[in-house]
Amino acid sequence: MSDPQKEIAKLRAAIAEHDRLYYKQAQPKIDDQAYDKLKARLAELEAQNPELDFGASPTQSVGDDRLEAFESYTHRKPMLSLDNTYSQEELMEFGRRLERLFPDESLEFLVEPKIDGVAVSLTYEKGQFVRAVSRGNGAEGDDITQNVRHIAGLPAAITDAPEILEVRGEIYMLHEEFERINTARDIEGQPLYANPRNLAAGTIKLLDPAEARSRKLEIVLYGIGACEPGRYFSHQAEIQEKLKRWQFPVLEKYWMAGSIEEAWTCIEALDALRQQFSYPTDGAVIKLDDFRLQDEAGFTSKAPRWAIAYKFEAERAETLLKEISLQIGRTGAVTPVAILEPVQLAGTTVSRATLHNEDEIRRKDIRPGDTVLVQKAGEIIPQVLGVNQAKRPADSQPFDFGEHLKALGIEAERDPAQAVWRIVSTNDPIRQQRALQHFASRACMDIENLGTAVVEQLVTRGLAKDPADLYLLQVEQLLELDKFAEKSAQNLYDALQASKTRQLWQLIHGLGIPHVGKQSAKDLEANFESLDAIASASEEQLEEVDGVGSIMAQSIHAWFEDEANRDLIDRLRSQGLNFQSARSEAPADGALSGKIVVLTGSLPTLTRSEATELIEAAGGRTSSSVSKKTDYVLAGEAAGSKYDKAVKLGIPILDEEAFQALIG
Ligand code: IVH
Repeated sequence: MSDPQKEIAKLRAAIAEHDRLYYKQAQPKIDDQAYDKLKARLAELEAQNPELDFGASPTQSVGDDRLEAFESYTHRKPMLSLDNTYSQEELMEFGRRLERLFPDESLEFLVEPKIDGVAVSLTYEKGQFVRAVSRGNGAEGDDITQNVRHIAGLPAAITDAPEILEVRGEIYMLHEEFERINTARDIEGQPLYANPRNLAAGTIKLLDPAEARSRKLEIVLYGIGACEPGRYFSHQAEIQEKLKRWQFPVLEKYWMAGSIEEAWTCIEALDALRQQFSYPTDGAVIKLDDFRLQDEAGFTSKAPRWAIAYKFEAERAETLLKEISLQIGRTGAVTPVAILEPVQLAGTTVSRATLHNEDEIRRKDIRPGDTVLVQKAGEIIPQVLGVNQAKRPADSQPFDFGEHLKALGIEAERDPAQAVWRIVSTNDPIRQQRALQHFASRACMDIENLGTAVVEQLVTRGLAKDPADLYLLQVEQLLELDKFAEKSAQNLYDALQASKTRQLWQLIHGLGIPHVGKQSAKDLEANFESLDAIASASEEQLEEVDGVGSIMAQSIHAWFEDEANRDLIDRLRSQGLNFQSARSEAPADGALSGKIVVLTGSLPTLTRSEATELIEAAGGRTSSSVSKKTDYVLAGEAAGSKYDKAVKLGIPILDEEAFQALIG
């Protein structure tokens, strides 16, 4: 592209979109290295064309992870980002600059692992842990205390501490835990997380603290923000030692270097060791040790001048693509996966890689039997970068997605709007199996003893095609299944009967309506009396629900318009499944009947879930955001933007005492 103005505009739009996907959705589309390249190119163009002023640039800020549903909190000291480089030469230049700035000093550097996690700031007041906040936009982050409090090894109190202390570090997830959660999601047909970092980022932003607690997170601390009163520390290395004494989980190793050349040797040592660390690392952070010199060096608008991140190149390897396998999800979507000759990459054995969709395969002309270049960047699910044409077998043929589906006997159609192939017929046995697995899964109807193998038998033997059929099964029929005896058949029968009284959101989620996940199912239940009320709602009415956007509203509406789905609903009703919202059980004469209450800040005696229970017992319900429809805001200490919005809209604000008085 020769026109810098156009290229800058295009890069900015692309970076803004990738920032949103990374920080807010925790579902990035590209790996860190590709992202860093876009940013480096933008910075280069901006430097070459200072006359082109587009206003605030993403090269001058730190991204933003804040979400509407969370309380925001202003960091006492901003959480900045770091300049980064992949080049040894640029690292040396960073050192030279500091040497020029401090010609009379002998510089000491600290070389620390750069942890590929999610940044967090923990506040301790009088030695007590009071709050955990995400980085947000650097100045103000989301209060994620509820989801962080339970992380193992995080001290609830520290002794001999300053009055106020912000401790900074990273939250991450171990590989085993990542695999455990993704496997369960795969069975349920939910989208998979690309890497442990995204899953950790998604987990700290869950609105359901119980769900967050069910996923195991880890934490490591390496720095401090505000520290009052006065100066507690004079060197970076002291912080590491003090954090260790306070019993925080700390860096397994860091190095001291007397020059930038020595720092490079330490980085090489780190690279050789880092696979053994429990946390994922994507580089090294090189910091000037002495705080006096740090202060003098100062900051740019987004990063300190006294530190830099040196990032390791993503690891790549060539291997044989044995076959392209097609996976089918709960809605019938077909996803291609590369089955690889196992190869060692970034410390793990890689035997599968994502191929995204048909267009991606065609664009890269990827064929079974090809030797492909695979990359694992920052632990992202391995990607196939391209094909080594020189090693292509002479008889190789392009991969024909449609033909391949036909050969497998899968009847699918390509969605004209997307690059996705989908099994359209609900009579397809594979699709039926996926839908039933999803229905029975823990996140839906939670039917014990109805695992993958049983579902497969039920479908292939023609005993069940859809969820309603499950409830017609008799013990005698179940006895015919492989490995089933009297007791197991009775257990499954009982589990099916027990599932009839599940909460409405579990049923809604279990129906497998495209785009409707667990949280949206809960939002729907909170806003409607019954399944029938949802079925007859217009798109506009559905869209009024917080958390339901136009695409989801359209999808729900279309699903209930479908004749076959309506028939399914009727059959489920006649089997006696619960269609009523828990909301309709709320007392009609309670002090908060029909009222919507928003909780914000921490209350002096009640936890959030206790307050929610009291509100529901009094006939009210809670919502996560303040709007004109809100009747009360129940505010505690450190209430933030929701409080301000309530003031602006003139909504009555209650403290805990007034709330207790109101509900009697
Ligand atoms: S120091 C003012 N040290 O990387 C400088 N950051 O890309 C504050 N990170 O925002 C950062 N490991 O979230 C520092 N050993 C380490 C780190 C580290 C990971 C994260 C941190 C920072 C981001 C910058």
